Amino acid sequence: MRRDHWGSRLGFIMAAAGSAVGLGNIWKFPYMAGGHGGSAFLILYLAFVLGFGLALVIAELVLGRMSGRNPVGAFRVMAGGAWPLVGGIGVLTAVLILSFYCVVAGWTIAYLFYAIEGALDATSAGTLESLFNQLTGSGLAPLCYAAAFMAISVVIVSRGVGSGIERASKLFMPLLFVVLVVMTARAVTLPGAGAGIAFLLKPDLSAIDGETVSAALGQAFFSLSLGLGGLVTYGSYMRASAHIGRDALAVVLLDTLVAMLAGLLIIPAMFAAGMTPGAGGAGTTFKVLPAVFAALPGGHWIAIGFFALLTLAALTSSVSLLEPIVAWLGDEHDIARGRAAPLAGLACMVLAVPVSLSFGVWEHVRIMGYSIFGLLDFLTNNLSLPFGSLMTAIVVGWIIGPRAVAALGPDGRPVGAWAQAWLFVVRFVAPIGIVWILIQGLV
Ligand code: TRP
Repeated sequence: MRRDHWGSRLGFIMAAAGSAVGLGNIWKFPYMAGGHGGSAFLILYLAFVLGFGLALVIAELVLGRMSGRNPVGAFRVMAGGAWPLVGGIGVLTAVLILSFYCVVAGWTIAYLFYAIEGALDATSAGTLESLFNQLTGSGLAPLCYAAAFMAISVVIVSRGVGSGIERASKLFMPLLFVVLVVMTARAVTLPGAGAGIAFLLKPDLSAIDGETVSAALGQAFFSLSLGLGGLVTYGSYMRASAHIGRDALAVVLLDTLVAMLAGLLIIPAMFAAGMTPGAGGAGTTFKVLPAVFAALPGGHWIAIGFFALLTLAALTSSVSLLEPIVAWLGDEHDIARGRAAPLAGLACMVLAVPVSLSFGVWEHVRIMGYSIFGLLDFLTNNLSLPFGSLMTAIVVGWIIGPRAVAALGPDGRPVGAWAQAWLFVVRFVAPIGIVWILIQGLV
């Protein structure tokens, strides 16, 4: 079977940035930073993104382009032995992440409807709190929204790489960016926002401990779509003429910029509203944003636009979580895209049921001290994604080694001296850093 390819360089960058930019940036990053000391978290996050996140994005892409396979196949072709197991864990991790990703994306769709109805206009902090609790606490409604979101993702993936994912990303990502800039500009000028800006930007390392380090690493990997072979799969659709390093840099910068903007939107808005950062948990974004809309002229319409675009950003990410599963079913088990996508979506939806209920009737269920959502979040972010990244670094840095350096450039042409620095990071900095942080997180 001939493999699909991205239509253009811009198409790839937009699809990969579409994968990276998602709920991780706008829903997760602000409450993670808020709960882990603000600037302390941000500094670690940036250090991990630039220190080895970028190098690992390049590593996954080159592993994909060299092998032309899904995560399992890529590890089999390039490393053999028991290595395909790492790809298998990656595919499983994609299922686990999607099972909570679709629940949160479902909330986003619900909020889009609230915005249209005007339910978010001129509300007090108290009403917003109960609006969120009412939605997430009910049994059926959030699951219906999650299922609707999953169904759209399945349809896009069924259509294939180029016409579905690429086209949607190219159109909506720039729009989201513009709306985000406008909202952030308003949030940082709200009365009382200054303390929030200082909390996020004024360096204060006192909050750094093992847990913060490990949370920041997990967040960096989650946001960059690293560690489960999603980018291996996207890399397998790259053309020989693409310049992997340059394209990866663009993707990483875009993702980081959007996370920073979202942090500077939500956290100052929390301070302006008199909320304690970190108190809002997984509901933070949803409880805080309406206050910013209300402070903007035409806030009603901006709210609608924002939640519509956030839903689209979540879609371009969920599609990139489905794609490695579908590519694995296709390459390894000969299941056609049109059947593999609904199959994968269904598996994730089954798991989404307990996740969604863990915000309602099963709120009190505790496994190892975690809620069901909390456990999946911890297992994927803090264990599976760092583990997958570590294994990718070992395979690309040590087993493929200099051949990977030669494969980075367009059509096998040599790239600049940075490639040697890249190999050094993949061989030494990333593995040692990840192992050290994994240990910090466990003790
Ligand atoms: N990066 C996306 C976000 O920030 C989520 C995501 C998409 C992802 N593909 C991934 C996370 C692969 C880990 C691995 O919302």
